[in-house]
Amino acid sequence: MPPLRNTPAQYGLVSQFFHWAIVVLVLFQFTWAWRIDQADGFRAQLELTTQHKTVGMLVLGLVVLRLLWRVFNRPPPLPGNMKGWEQKLAGFTHWLLYGLILAMPVSGWLYTSAAGYADQWWGPVNFPALIEPSDSLQDLFGAVHGWLALTLGLVALVHLLAALRHHFLLGDDVLKRMLPIWKRNSQ
Ligand code: HEM
Ligand code: HEM
Repeated sequence: MPPLRNTPAQYGLVSQFFHWAIVVLVLFQFTWAWRIDQADGFRAQLELTTQHKTVGMLVLGLVVLRLLWRVFNRPPPLPGNMKGWEQKLAGFTHWLLYGLILAMPVSGWLYTSAAGYADQWWGPVNFPALIEPSDSLQDLFGAVHGWLALTLGLVALVHLLAALRHHFLLGDDVLKRMLPIWKRNSQ
């Protein structure tokens, strides 16, 4: 098992936990958005939407903790044989992904606030409305939430393909060092 903190050779368990937990929850969010669309009847839609909002707020909490952990834990440097532009592109994609997984729940929260439904999550725990109810802002943030989701889906797909390229075509450690089952021998 890797250590808790990042090392120059691999991501530590805490960074890995944040990475994979958020991947699973984001997949859950897309699946639930689809199920809301397919659901028959108002009650079924309301129940699924409440679950989508609750899990989305969990993502928000995890992303904030993840970014704090990231500040105090430098990621392992990319392999030295990667070209300068490849390294820059990887760094840019990673910050774009951080931005998107933060913007998704925030736009969802603004969306439900504008719709007047901000305060019914986590059972007894209510989150405050961020803004006053407004039809035009509801439409705006609903559209923003949808476009951000599409962008996240596309960027995550490119990121997935890049990880697979590293593993299968370049044969380096970039994918393995994000996996909890792998520990570099010399570390
Ligand atoms: C990582 C977090 C999230 C992801 C990936 C996500 C993803 C999505 C996606 C893909 C849709 C469908 C968009 C469309 O059809 O245009 C959607 C709809 C929606 N999301 Fe999120 N979401 C997240 C967080 C949140 C949060 C935190 C809230 C509210 C607090 C929220 C509230 C909603 C609502 C109300 C809808 C509309 C559902 C309907 O069709 O009636 N989302 N979300
Ligand atoms: C919702 C989907 C995903 C998001 C939001 C996401 C986000 C991120 C972010 C922000 C980083 C940078 C970590 C850092 O250095 O600070 C990262 C790294 C990484 N991700 Fe993802 N990821 C997603 C899906 C995936 C998938 C499906 C795979 C796998 C096959 C994957 C494999 C990796 C690997 C291998 C790294 C480490 C890259 C390196 O060593 O520099 N990710 N991911």
